Formats: sequence, structure tokens, C-alpha cells
Amino acid sequence: MAEVVIVGSADEAGDIAAGIIRSLLEQLPDAVLGFATGSTPLSTYRALAAQGLDLGAVRGFALDEYVGLPAGHSQSYRAVIDREVVAPLGLQPGSVRVPGDDGLPLQGAGERYERDIYAAGGIDLQVLGIGRTGHIGFNEPGSSLASLTRVKTLTESTRLDNARFFDSPDEVPTHCITQGLGTILRARHLVLLAFGESKADAVAAALEGPVSASTPGSVVQLHPRVTVIVDEAAARHLEHADYYRYAWDHRLDWER
Ligand code: F6R
Repeated sequence: MAEVVIVGSADEAGDIAAGIIRSLLEQLPDAVLGFATGSTPLSTYRALAAQGLDLGAVRGFALDEYVGLPAGHSQSYRAVIDREVVAPLGLQPGSVRVPGDDGLPLQGAGERYERDIYAAGGIDLQVLGIGRTGHIGFNEPGSSLASLTRVKTLTESTRLDNARFFDSPDEVPTHCITQGLGTILRARHLVLLAFGESKADAVAAALEGPVSASTPGSVVQLHPRVTVIVDEAAARHLEHADYYRYAWDHRLDWER
């Protein structure tokens, strides 16, 4: 079962997630990290930056990227990763890949990204957010649970959710290239974060509903090592919330 941690705030969640990443880097300074973008992981990246660790050996792979934005667009995930992750964490320039960033045709970019992840030794820890549609990465409902990196069409609901980052909703691309659910399952540790009431249904469906392509986030139930960190609002519809709190309060010394 996933370890579910219910916290008071996104900052608290960020501190816990950053602590998990720090422990990994103490063991493995050249770990390969998988980076989500969007609002959710920002407190984790801030907390990690505040720790002042030397992350010069870390390599990374972004979860996804929009298709069709002009090169250098401030909301491309390439730009977001450089701004929110590479610069503040002091990662080496070029150490974090983004799907489709190899300058080769989009067709085949998914397969090439998979090969590059494999060549890097796989992703040690993947940071994830979840969308209101239940997507992780940009794997919208209906995505194969075994899918690998590929081009997908965003739902209208996700485009509207992400319109807040753009000048107008029409500017949000209709397509993306995203790690697949099968790609995400190959990472060695998944850290899934969610905050706010708007995520409560998706979180409950992903963690406690049936494993189904209709709720792509439910694929985490198939993974042997998942840490879910949610605030009270996002945890609101979790049937077993009391048990998750109890298990966290009673974790063993070596789990702390
Ligand atoms: C981002 C990503 C998405 C987001 C999700 C939640 O790389 O893959 O799955 O994590 O859309 O977005 P926010 O965090 O902005 O609510």
C-alpha cells in the first residue's frame, strides 16, 4: 500500500518530500530524479533549494512538455524546469531532460526519451502531481496503464486548469508529450503530492478506487513504493484517512 501522509500545508508537504529526496541523495549523489511541473511540486523544490545541498551530480527527466509552443516560451516546461528546478537547485545546465528536447522530429521522440531514461539507469525518484481529471503526467483518462512516453491530446478540462499560466485559454496547447503510466511505474520511488479541495475526488479515486485507465493516477496502486503527501483538503474524501494518520504517527524508528 502507498504510505499516505496528511499534512497541514503545502509547505509542510514540501519539507517532507524534500527530506525524502535528501535521504536518497545522501545514499546516491548522482540519483536520477523525475520532475513534475505545475503548482504542486513548487514547495518541494523550494524546500530542497533551502537545504543548500550540492546537487551538482543529479540528473533529471521532466514528466511532460507541451507540444507546439514557440521555442523559449516562458510556459514551456523546458523553461519552467530551468526556472523552478535547474537554477534554484544549482543543477548542472543540461542535466535535466524534457521530452522532445533533443531537436529531432516529434515523431519518435517518445521512444528516444524512453531510451535516454534507460541509458541513465532509470529514474530513482519521481515527483508527481495529480490533475482534477485524475491524470498523472499528462496521461488523461483512457491512457493505457502500460503506456510509455508519447504524444497525447489534453482534455479541455486540463487546458482550462492550465490557462492560469497563459495570457488566454486559447494559448494552451492541445497536445503534449508525456511519460506514460508504464514509464512512471518503472521509477523506483513515486512521491505524489496534492493540495486543495479541487484535488480531493481525484486523490480518493486514485488511492482507494479501482485501478482503471479511467483514473490514470490509480496506477500508483500497482507500484511497490509510493509516498503520497496531501493536505487536509485534498484528503477530504479519503475513506481510510484515520488509518493513514494512525500509521504515520506510529511509524517505526527506522521509517522516520
Ligand atoms: C505536470 C504534470 C501534471 C500536473 C497536474 C497538476 O508536469 O505532469 O500531472 O502535476 O496537472 O497540476 P498542478 O500542480 O498545477 O495542480
